[in-house]
Amino acid sequence: MDGYSAKILEHAKYPRKFGRISDPDLKFEEVNPLCGDRIRVELRLTGIGAVEEISFSGEMCAIAKASASILFASIEGMTPAAIIDLSDEQVLKALGGPIKRHRVRCALLPVLALRGAILNGKENATSS
Ligand code: FES
Repeated sequence: MDGYSAKILEHAKYPRKFGRISDPDLKFEEVNPLCGDRIRVELRLTGIGAVEEISFSGEMCAIAKASASILFASIEGMTPAAIIDLSDEQVLKALGGPIKRHRVRCALLPVLALRGAILNGKENATSS
């Protein structure tokens, strides 16, 4: 973990939003094909469709875990449309420091799962 920001190190050690939501409205699992790590994202929505609660779980590296913690700590209250508008660059910038090129896929794993939950998570939530 040499060379990473204090923010990344702190979130990797003490991740926010780590856990499960019972009976989520949306859920999605994303796998990093390069390493086999996987993250599961679950969301509960308010009556008007904004994010009321979010959680993540799974087996992933410290960079992916820190990125999930930082991103998901900031999206409660956002609408699905606003979440989909979040760019990869915004997600990486929020990490507070550079990400080594070969770890960018790790850092983006959570936002890929989040986009999957927004776009396809309803079917997942009702199918199991
Ligand atoms: Fe697998 Fe980072 S090494 S997500």
